[in-house]
Amino acid sequence: MNKYETIKVHYDNPMEKAITIVFSREKQLNAMNSLMVKELSTLIDEIDSVKEKYRVLILTGGGEKSFVAGADISEMSNMSPNEAKLFLSSAQNALLKLEKLDLPVIAKINGFALGGGFELALACDIRIASQNALLGLPEVTLGIIPSAGGTQRLTKLVGESIAKYWILTAKRLKAKEAYNFGVVHEVCEPQDLDEYTNKLIEKIIGLAPIALVKAKKSIQSTFWKNTILGYEDELNNAVDCFESDDLREGMKAFLEKRRANFENK
Ligand code: CAA
Repeated sequence: MNKYETIKVHYDNPMEKAITIVFSREKQLNAMNSLMVKELSTLIDEIDSVKEKYRVLILTGGGEKSFVAGADISEMSNMSPNEAKLFLSSAQNALLKLEKLDLPVIAKINGFALGGGFELALACDIRIASQNALLGLPEVTLGIIPSAGGTQRLTKLVGESIAKYWILTAKRLKAKEAYNFGVVHEVCEPQDLDEYTNKLIEKIIGLAPIALVKAKKSIQSTFWKNTILGYEDELNNAVDCFESDDLREGMKAFLEKRRANFENK
């Protein structure tokens, strides 16, 4: 029985020794609300306690359209700065736990991976996307900043110059473009995404599990040591945005399906 409301988890699926997490708020394009963050955090602990039995974790979105379309704007639009701090630090921590999990983690990106959804994918080890996926960090269109580790992880992946360009212009990337920058490792037709992912799972399951985890840890080692302060700064800067009228306007405009009118206050 699935004990989570916003997430489905499948053990030994699509094959033995593989776990699949499916984000399941399809009507909201799997947008991440506080319950989803809490459930993801609990689920990662649950997976951590049985990880010896498994070889790989896969994350994907429920439905045809979306991986995860970011943090839930409707919920965030009503948050005080203190509530936002709690929510965003929980999201940062859940993604850190995911990144540190002793299993290779694959993001199977089957549609929108925007904002917190892209940040989630960036916390995974391998990203496979369908041709119709759209990726990016459009937070500044809402008066907020990427605040689930995106400013740190994207910068590490593509370098400061490209990260600034993408984040400061709210750039949305098609899967092929993200592939060209090494952000996505494989791109395929939507109907081939299962097959591509399954081949990769099969390959990883056949490799030496201890060596895989040790390799993952070694690759990440200096990044963790150097980014603690970066995460703190990102969180504080994000919470500052919740003091601004522009954030209220940006989120209200999204919900009212109109262009935001920012006044720099
Ligand atoms: N939060 C809450 N609801 C969302 C959502 C989100 N992030 N993304 C989509 N939805 C909802 C829409 O409001 C809409 O609801 P209604 O049917 O009730 O109107 C429903 O999902 C379908 O969305 P659209 O009608 O907009 O679908 P579309 O195909 O026209 O557009 C989209 C899809 C391009 C993904 C568009 O929905 C969109 O731009 N979403 C927001 C993406 C975004 O800005 N994400 C960043 C959020 S901030 C963040 O993530 C902070 C952080 O770092 C932690």
